[in-house]
Amino acid sequence: MKVIVAKNNIEGSQKAFELIKSAMDNGAEVLGLATGSTPIALYNTMIDSDVDFSKMTSINLDEYVGLAPDNDQSYRYFMQEHLFNKKPFAKTYVPDGLATDAEAETKRYDKVIEDNPIDVQILGIGLNGHIGFNEPGSSFEGQTSKVALTQSTIDANARFFEKESDVPKFAYSMGIGSIMKSKKIILLAFGEAKADIIKETIEGPITTDVPASVLQNKEDVTIILDEAAASKL
Ligand code: GLP
Repeated sequence: MKVIVAKNNIEGSQKAFELIKSAMDNGAEVLGLATGSTPIALYNTMIDSDVDFSKMTSINLDEYVGLAPDNDQSYRYFMQEHLFNKKPFAKTYVPDGLATDAEAETKRYDKVIEDNPIDVQILGIGLNGHIGFNEPGSSFEGQTSKVALTQSTIDANARFFEKESDVPKFAYSMGIGSIMKSKKIILLAFGEAKADIIKETIEGPITTDVPASVLQNKEDVTIILDEAAASKL
């Protein structure tokens, strides 16, 4: 695991972009992508670059259960707005929030991941250490599943919704087992609010109580922080 401390999120995102570019120069074809406020600067850097993603495939980590692709709180909508509409990819996958048969949808998504092995996985991190929507207690071997969001995640994400009761209670999420199979993983964390969980992730014990701590088990992991997120290391 490598830790890079950048001056701010713009510099950190630039470093992440350079890692993606060099992976693409070495044949990477599939990017695992994340939502949340953290990767927005990276997506802007990708959009502003002259790098061609039109032969690339992307696979997103997660989607809220019950939200349609055109719902402006859905992760499909987020990805269209923040990246795909401005930087076209050949194929983009996001779990189907409207799927009512959870077993069929999670199996379908696992097949997508199996057929398109992820070369570079971008991750953010939740305040409780979740990656994707794999909340504390999730198995390190898990595949795609329908997960119940914790109250801490619902509270953290309520800022994007009109009222807390609008925040979906469930999501489809790629599992930690699948995330860990990616060839390379880049986790981004910016801002002081992430400092405690970053310390636990990097310096604490490897435990399902802190899902992101599993990254200590993998060699090709780069954690990119700004000074605030790194302030407790
Ligand atoms: C959500 C997403 C995560 C993301 C997290 C942090 O819960 N499912 O993938 O990492 O939010 O979001 P932010 O980057 O806004 O702090």
